[in-house]
Amino acid sequence: MSLLVANWKMHGSRARVRAFAYAVNDSLARMGAGLEVVFCPPAPYLAAVREALPQNARLGIGAQNCHAEREGAFTGEISAAMLADCGARHVILGHSERRRLGFETCAEARAKAEAAIAAGLRPIICVGESMAEYDARRTGEVLAGQVAHFTGLPAGKYVIAYEPVWAIGAGKTPTLAEISAAHRGIKSTLGSANPVLYGGSVNAGNLREILGLSEVQGALIGGASLEIDGMRALMEIAA
Ligand code: PGA
Repeated sequence: MSLLVANWKMHGSRARVRAFAYAVNDSLARMGAGLEVVFCPPAPYLAAVREALPQNARLGIGAQNCHAEREGAFTGEISAAMLADCGARHVILGHSERRRLGFETCAEARAKAEAAIAAGLRPIICVGESMAEYDARRTGEVLAGQVAHFTGLPAGKYVIAYEPVWAIGAGKTPTLAEISAAHRGIKSTLGSANPVLYGGSVNAGNLREILGLSEVQGALIGGASLEIDGMRALMEIAA
């Protein structure tokens, strides 16, 4: 089973997200049972996407963040329970674009992951090293420090996405051997019950060889997921 997560970040419109969700749903119906897709549009569109789609166990809707508290005086924030109420089944946590803005640390992502699981969502937790850490050959050590925050979460209830910060939106990826090694390190700490995805400049030219690695259960895709034709090509490779 491969898992493809389409992270639309702050892109799209009501019309575009709905058209994309319909098209992905149609394409999935024509593909084998070995592929699951999670679409993460901007939060205001979650309910519109959910309401437009038939329930499909292989197409999930996800959010890009949540708050660790259930409710309260947190202006502008959205709780995991609210996301679930709007039809989300997944939530991306600890994305490097949010970490860079100071919005999220590993400790905060851990608290959010617990809240998400309690609300019935599956967290997709992002980890990854910076360019300087990669250049200093500190990837293994940095990842070990990050994933240590997520030990003890219920096995099989979350997904880890290995996303080297320097690869995101950059058109560069680590070598296949480096991706394998990073995934093995993550699994050595967290076990193998949770899928581990690769993310960072995934496209139709590199997805096949990345998914060919036995340690990789799928991909978190930003830019290359924004057009339906591109997404279909990625789905065909993964299926
Ligand atoms: P990218 O983004 O595929 O555009 O590099 C991936 C991500 O940020 O999750």
